[in-house]
Amino acid sequence: MTSREYVRRYFSDSARQWLARAYDDVEETAAYPVGAQRTRLALEGVVDRLGTAQGHLVDLGCGGGNLALHAVDLGFRATGVDLAEGMIAEAEARRAALVPDARDRVSFRVADVLETGLRTGSADAVTAIGLVEYLAADEPFLAETARLLRGGGVLVVSCRNRLFNATSGNDYTREEIETGSATGLLEELATLRPDRAVVPLLGEVVARLREALPGLERALAKDAASEGARVARSSPVFGQRRRQHSPAGFAAAAAAAGFRHPRFFGVHPHVLSPALEAVAPRFYNRFAAALEPLESAPVSLAWSSAFLAVFTR
Ligand SMILES: C[S@@+](CC[C@H](N)C(=O)[O-])C[C@H]1O[C@@H](n2cnc3c(N)ncnc32)[C@H](O)[C@@H]1O
Repeated sequence: MTSREYVRRYFSDSARQWLARAYDDVEETAAYPVGAQRTRLALEGVVDRLGTAQGHLVDLGCGGGNLALHAVDLGFRATGVDLAEGMIAEAEARRAALVPDARDRVSFRVADVLETGLRTGSADAVTAIGLVEYLAADEPFLAETARLLRGGGVLVVSCRNRLFNATSGNDYTREEIETGSATGLLEELATLRPDRAVVPLLGEVVARLREALPGLERALAKDAASEGARVARSSPVFGQRRRQHSPAGFAAAAAAAGFRHPRFFGVHPHVLSPALEAVAPRFYNRFAAALEPLESAPVSLAWSSAFLAVFTR
């Protein structure tokens, strides 16, 4: 089976469980609600850069359509593209529940992101969230997004963050050391030192923590009741290697394809050791969510297991 076929089958067969794990409340799934954070950041990034919530947004690797449907709520027309029939079936079910005006402004199609069948220059914004780690290479993907976008259009991409390998203290760290690439990561990390702009964001974290305390207490009690055992995974494990990027590495590949003005956001914070997640997953992930106000600070790229990049074509 090719790796593309493996990806198609995995997401088609586990579509419902995958979406529940990525989007459901952390107390239900014990997993970080990464889907909600990525969708919010991506749409904020698009609207902020475009200066409007109008136009055509294409979401590549759209999964169950969450981002495209939110985009329609904001005022965009949206097209979602995904290889996995099971994901598109979930997206179509959600589309069918919309009021007619909204339903007419969104469509979904089963296709490879490199063969979307969409017109050159037909997109004002392209988003690709949780996608590039499953592709064989960046260049064909970046060339295709450059083709789809009009000049001045916005690209938002999320990537698994290699910089986090320098601080996570796990097998990824060992591999970066053994292959001699850890020094380069540390050099990139050294460019991310915070300045005074981080102080108000820390104030927001304090406010979030105050609000989060009752939920943190409940989460810890639930973790304690499950005797610290690993919570059963609610979707099958993706059994193949997924690619990672560093922010500077991805920006260089994007620049070669004509994308400018990169801006990065940290996604899925891991400020406490990731080893704690196995023992107290609900507490760990709820605590992490309280740190989201720091996502716009460059230093957050040191502890976030993913990042989101915004570019202008
Ligand atoms: C991790 S999921 C993310 C789904 C969605 N973007 C979200 O954030 O909720 C990745 C999605 O990319 C799709 N995908 C992976 N490779 C693809 C390809 N070559 N063409 C189209 N879709 C692809 C998968 O089928 C899957 O639905």
